[in-house]
Amino acid sequence: MKEILRINNISKTYKIKGAFLKLSGFVNALKGIFFTVSKGETLALIGESGSGKSTLAFIVAGLISPDSGNIIYKGRDLHALYKKDSKIRRKIQIIFQDPYNTLNPRYKVYDALSEPVWVHKIVSRRKIKNEIVRTLEMVGLGEDYIYKYPHELSGGERQRIAIARAIILKPEVIICDEPTSNLDLSIQAQILNLLLEIKKREDLTLLFITHDINIASFISDRVIVLYNGEIVEEGKKEDIFANPVSSYTKSLFEASTL
Ligand SMILES: Nc1ncnc2c1ncn2[C@@H]1O[C@H](COP(=O)(O)OP(=O)(O)O)[C@@H](O)[C@H]1O
Ligand SMILES: [Mg+2]
Repeated sequence: MKEILRINNISKTYKIKGAFLKLSGFVNALKGIFFTVSKGETLALIGESGSGKSTLAFIVAGLISPDSGNIIYKGRDLHALYKKDSKIRRKIQIIFQDPYNTLNPRYKVYDALSEPVWVHKIVSRRKIKNEIVRTLEMVGLGEDYIYKYPHELSGGERQRIAIARAIILKPEVIICDEPTSNLDLSIQAQILNLLLEIKKREDLTLLFITHDINIASFISDRVIVLYNGEIVEEGKKEDIFANPVSSYTKSLFEASTL
């Protein structure tokens, strides 16, 4: 399969200010991460809380810069592209655990979805409403949702709007940062199925972040296990689930109910 993203030796350190002046220090959130993502695959990034998953997601989405290393998107340096042409941002979208990070509580669904379309000039002003209705349909919601506010929606519906906001930009890659962690189990399954369906229909590449190996097993083609800012395991889902190599991955599997 063709490479779409190359995560090339990415490191990131955060400086922490302690409560007392002398207790400040550093966290090495990512330590020389290297992997590639093929077009059309679903790559699961598994790791416990604090392992560096969100930091990596933010760097790939261009929301923060790495200290060293670079992200290569279709053969070109992504952060350099972001600086030159902000339009490229629409190609790589991110969906967060909590859709309140994406949805302004004062914006109706119509505003939340028309804003990115307008900024990136996806369709002409005249066609925006049609495009919004079409996209709502793709995430399983009717036209009547257009005039609702985020607080009038259930958690699952809010996540559907966040997905709509991402796919309305016709991206190539979607990074999902634990998008179902706040949802009930039955709703989780609906959202995961929806993401897979949209992925297939729109020919997307998914970078799916989760701490839940059951979800990784359900959704992914390939798996990377992150521990303490480093990759400890990488391979096809079937191989890793049948025969994990690292002791950390083994302990993850033993702890789960899989
Ligand atoms: N803005 C920040 N400032 C300081 N430390 C941070 C910041 N964001 C994350 N960290 C630290 O970096 C490490 C990795 O965090 P994160 O990428 O959020 O991991 P995960 O998403 O796997 O839980 C953690 O130790 C976390 O406390
Ligand atoms: Mg996180």
